[in-house]
Amino acid sequence: MISNFWQQLPRPFFVLAPMEAVTDVVFRHVIAKAGAPDVWFSEFTNATGWVHAGQKAIGGRLIRTEDEQPIVAQIWGGEPGDMEQLAAHCRELGFHGIDINMGCPAKSAIKSGGSALIRKPEVAIAAIAAAKTSGLPVSVKTRLGYTSIGEWRGWLTTLLEQDIVNLTVHLRTKKEMSKVPAHFELIDDIIALRDKIAPETLLTINGDIQNRTHGLKLAAEHPGLNGIMIGRGVFQDPFCFVTSETSSRAAKLSATSATRVSAVAHTTETRREAVVDNFGSENTREELLRLLDYHLDLFDHWQPELSRPYETLKRFYKIYIRDFDGAKELRDQLMRTKNTDEAREILRKI
Ligand SMILES: Cc1cc2nc3c(=O)[nH]c(=O)nc-3n(C[C@H](O)[C@H](O)[C@H](O)COP(=O)(O)O)c2cc1C
Repeated sequence: MISNFWQQLPRPFFVLAPMEAVTDVVFRHVIAKAGAPDVWFSEFTNATGWVHAGQKAIGGRLIRTEDEQPIVAQIWGGEPGDMEQLAAHCRELGFHGIDINMGCPAKSAIKSGGSALIRKPEVAIAAIAAAKTSGLPVSVKTRLGYTSIGEWRGWLTTLLEQDIVNLTVHLRTKKEMSKVPAHFELIDDIIALRDKIAPETLLTINGDIQNRTHGLKLAAEHPGLNGIMIGRGVFQDPFCFVTSETSSRAAKLSATSATRVSAVAHTTETRREAVVDNFGSENTREELLRLLDYHLDLFDHWQPELSRPYETLKRFYKIYIRDFDGAKELRDQLMRTKNTDEAREILRKI
């Protein structure tokens, strides 16, 4: 009997969003060092690719380590039979849950799956049933609709009727990509729909949430919300999941007093602003550089299994080298390096 970890999470719980070519085993360990979320997700992994071409189709997407607890494998596709097979494989690999991606707007994904499932509810329903045969808890990550916001009620109703453990809603439509602000104004209506149709299904929101403080504030403002998923916030601040003394106090308070939590969250926000103001100070810069050092070491450690070109590491440099005098020049130097040793050599001189 596999346990359903979702029921044991704190409220609100925090999730690191799945991000293709970003949240692999290397970067997840970097975030674990900076301050872990409550739930990890793998990058999305295509079921049909895995069934037909095996390991080489999915690269290192499903590599995980025992210390990543709990971790959900995110799968996608348009063939429920293939999803059944990949979900069973994920269970063998030791994942604790399966999430089905029904929100990816990329052209390559919507040929068969991702947000295309918003327009093929019968396939979405079959995919959920197929993933459930793994015995793992099944969740879904999706958007409000395909072309118009008005689709949200019908589409989310269909999903909530499938007895899933968690529904993550990226608060935009497929058409909106990430070009407009997330529709926070719909949160309470979505909570009310969940309460009506599937009160046991957890509800997680996603889109434009910057950090733990921001997430706590939203949870306090919208009672009934269970989880907060943060993606690009980690690029602005890899420490975005860190629990400060004040924010953990806010979490404890959240069950009893939404208004007071808002005030506490506000205090934390003010503190964080102070930290951000100080971003150029030696300490914060020092912490980021140590994290970058760790990232380089992990990249080398996993390289034999992941076989990802050194070039793919460069997109991360702007996370660590920023907001201080000379940061741009330093980044330019790093962009000209050809391997981690050359990068370390430059960093040693700082
Ligand atoms: C580089 C990148 C890769 C992404 N890959 C995935 C993915 O594999 N699966 C998925 O469900 N969403 C993926 N997303 C979407 C994010 O999970 C998230 O829904 C989106 O970025 C909005 O949240 P945010 O504002 O907190 O970043 C990706 C986003 C980015 C920026």
